[in-house]
Amino acid sequence: MDDVVIGPLDLAARVDDALAVQALAFGLSDDEIGVRRHVVLRHAANAGVRALGATTAEGRLAGFVYGMPNNRVYWWSTVVQPYLRETGSERWLDDAFVITELHVHPAFQKRGIGRRLITEITDTAVEPKSILSAIDVESPARRLYWQLGYQDLARRVIFPSAPAPYVVMGAELPLRRA
Ligand SMILES: CC(C)(COP(=O)(O)OP(=O)(O)OC[C@H]1O[C@@H](n2cnc3c(N)ncnc32)[C@H](O)[C@@H]1OP(=O)(O)O)[C@@H](O)C(=O)NCCC(=O)NCCS
Repeated sequence: MDDVVIGPLDLAARVDDALAVQALAFGLSDDEIGVRRHVVLRHAANAGVRALGATTAEGRLAGFVYGMPNNRVYWWSTVVQPYLRETGSERWLDDAFVITELHVHPAFQKRGIGRRLITEITDTAVEPKSILSAIDVESPARRLYWQLGYQDLARRVIFPSAPAPYVVMGAELPLRRA
């Protein structure tokens, strides 16, 4: 960890580095990288978007997180809204900071970088809560989110074009410490 520094990330300028990390961590085909590139650049222009990067002494990106205050007109919000209404958790869509992406390069995982990225970005959010979506399986991401206090708000959420169902999770801020 000593060689990795966490600080603000210029998402638009570092989009290719970020997607290279995501491709290895999450698994993205070249076609998917092209699609994600447009999406990330669009997100980078959204109101209140913030990003943090974990950078090595050589300037290599080891991980990143970004998110933004939720807005019910955003595509992600419109997809999850009916599922949250169904479970009585629709209030989570208001005054919430959405974690849009969190990825750590496999060579740098299990060193506490993911935990630091998501904790630090939510610590500086003005919203009282945070929401996110994750693939609806047991995974390191799900374990980390549970440890931080995120709870399941709606499961089996289908995003058009996504191959697997997602779960929407929410946590009161600040996130729980270990
Ligand atoms: C989810 C993800 C971002 C977590 O990043 P990370 O840097 O590995 O996370 P952390 O190191 O903070 O914590 C992960 C695990 O490492 C453990 N850990 C932390 N520091 C450790 C250390 N020094 N030694 C050993 N284990 C450690 C944590 O306890 C945690 O254990 P757990 O899996 O049993 O819960 C990363 O696994 C990832 O990029 N996954 C693929 C992409 C993905 O799924 N992103 C989320 C999309 S929703």
